Amino acid sequence: MRIPEEKIDEIRNAADIVDVVSKYVPLKKAGANFKALCPFHHEKTPSFVVSPQKQIFNCFSCHIGGNVFKFLMEFNKVSFVEAVKEVADEVGIPLELERGDSGRESEREQFYEINVEAARFYSDALLKGDEGKAAREYLEGRGVPTRIMRVFGLGYAPDEWRALTERLDKRGHDLEKAATLGLIGKNDRGYYDKMRGRIVFPIFSTNGRVVAFAGRATKADDRGPKYVNSPENPIYHKSSVLYGMFHAKEEIRKADSALAVEGYMDVVALWKSGVKNVVAVSGTALTEDQARLLSRFAKSVKLLFDADSAGVRAAMRSVEILLREGLSVRVVSLPEGEDPDSFVNERGAEAFRKEEENARNFFEFMAGVYEKEGRFADPDSLAEAVRELVKPVAFVNDDLKRAAIIKAIAERFGLRERLLESELEKTTRSTRRERRPPEKQPTRGKSEPTDAKPSPRERDLVKILYEGERRALDFVFDRVQPDEFRHSALRALAAEAYGIWREGGLPTPSNVGERLHNEELERMLYDLAEMNYDYSEALDAMGTVNRDDVVYFEAIDTVKRFKVDRLDKERSALAAELANAFETDDQRRILQELAVMDREKKIAEEEFEAIKERARNAE
Ligand code: GTP
Ligand code: MN
Repeated sequence: MRIPEEKIDEIRNAADIVDVVSKYVPLKKAGANFKALCPFHHEKTPSFVVSPQKQIFNCFSCHIGGNVFKFLMEFNKVSFVEAVKEVADEVGIPLELERGDSGRESEREQFYEINVEAARFYSDALLKGDEGKAAREYLEGRGVPTRIMRVFGLGYAPDEWRALTERLDKRGHDLEKAATLGLIGKNDRGYYDKMRGRIVFPIFSTNGRVVAFAGRATKADDRGPKYVNSPENPIYHKSSVLYGMFHAKEEIRKADSALAVEGYMDVVALWKSGVKNVVAVSGTALTEDQARLLSRFAKSVKLLFDADSAGVRAAMRSVEILLREGLSVRVVSLPEGEDPDSFVNERGAEAFRKEEENARNFFEFMAGVYEKEGRFADPDSLAEAVRELVKPVAFVNDDLKRAAIIKAIAERFGLRERLLESELEKTTRSTRRERRPPEKQPTRGKSEPTDAKPSPRERDLVKILYEGERRALDFVFDRVQPDEFRHSALRALAAEAYGIWREGGLPTPSNVGERLHNEELERMLYDLAEMNYDYSEALDAMGTVNRDDVVYFEAIDTVKRFKVDRLDKERSALAAELANAFETDDQRRILQELAVMDREKKIAEEEFEAIKERARNAE
């Protein structure tokens, strides 16, 4: 879909950026401008400015900025067209959209249209068709009334090979695109329905667009896994979507708190009972993106995962990720053997809210888990466990709160607060450089560019940047900035990739090559792309065929080596300094710095291992 240029101008001119932004961010007048805490990174003093004269916003700390459309695109994670639509609504300018443009926007729109068609098809089959009768009765039997099936757009995929395929074909949709979305597959006899005989949960984006589907096996049907989900595709990035977010977001904002549960059915059941600030993470730990999404709507999150070991592990990992995003975290536990769905159906919303009120602070929850594991029984494992307990406290942003937690942990375990504080200090130091916003990296990592031979690490890292894999790209740029590259050409390539990434694009040699206007860079880029290592080794070693995963794991390793290399370099420089130091004071200072560095290196290595482990478990 295309909106004519003049129309876009008209809409932009009619809008006031201050009105639009203040719908989402509390703005305070400051001279000719308005100020606020930046919604795009965590900060304690406001550096986010909106200018009514220039009709732009800008954060001089994380350097994000733009006009009213850009704000909505960034804040709501929507496309340009969606942002224009929202503003048009706001200012009351009607939009008649032209069809048939061949640009990227319209391609995305086509994907959405296919999903809407499929959702309608599944929904009709559930609510109207004979074939959906058993599924309908099954859902009713689990306490889901028709009204709620409609609210969540639940559907049924008929147990046939070409039902959806034919419908899409008849309505003129591009079947190749439907295959990209994972709705249909293709074999030598042509296209066929992927989802058959399953109850279908459409997965909505935060803005209410259908981006994916999850199909649950019906009771009578034991073939295949319990759930089949849409694959990653151009409009669905699994790690940044939360099931139920669209339905829950206003409630989450109102309550300033979100409840995160494991299952789709849990969301539906709770919502039906009136507990509406609820989202599901779909059986794994929360991702960073999901945590960031929640942090846009609320300050606190309650986790309610199963009490089985997988659920507990997912909760433990989620705690840290949420704390990192500046959220406060509590953990709800239900009586043995209950999940939110069964509990709220049997006992009702009142009883559920009571359980919610009894949520424990995250460290009490973690301590409880360690205790159960017997880790407090002997002094050695106790020390280790306490250290692990202290680690996430480093992410609590509020000084008072942090002090209170430390105090509570000290009391609980009969430890000196001082001891815990020094543990805390250690972790803070090692995690500080990993924290958002990436621009706030210590200057130590930055360096003057050179033209000397590039280090293999830098080459490896730039290669990853141009693999066209979003997860890997996010990972790298969350941790490494272009000006940390020493080699000038590699730095330029990293900067180019960074610019595209910041705009929400995916750099690849083909889309960057021609805009470089620099033969040397171009050559280097294509050389890198053709480096013989094409991840096939890693594919074998990991026994997987998922390219996205492989590049992601490669990114974790390479960033680690990049960082560790740098620490090593800094270490040698210090060691050389030590050799030349005559004053005992200097020597002592250098030795201390060396010790700190060794510890940092060890922690860095351990952390990357942990990240990798987490990624592996999340699969
Ligand atoms: P019911 O068992 O009907 O109550 O469904 P549920 O949605 O509560 O499922 P369950 O508690 O077993 O699992 C929690 C969540 O984990 C589900 O909602 C899914 O998101 C995810 N999940 C469970 N099984 C599978 C599976 O086989 N494949 C995938 N991809 N996800 C699954
Ligand atoms: Mn369940």
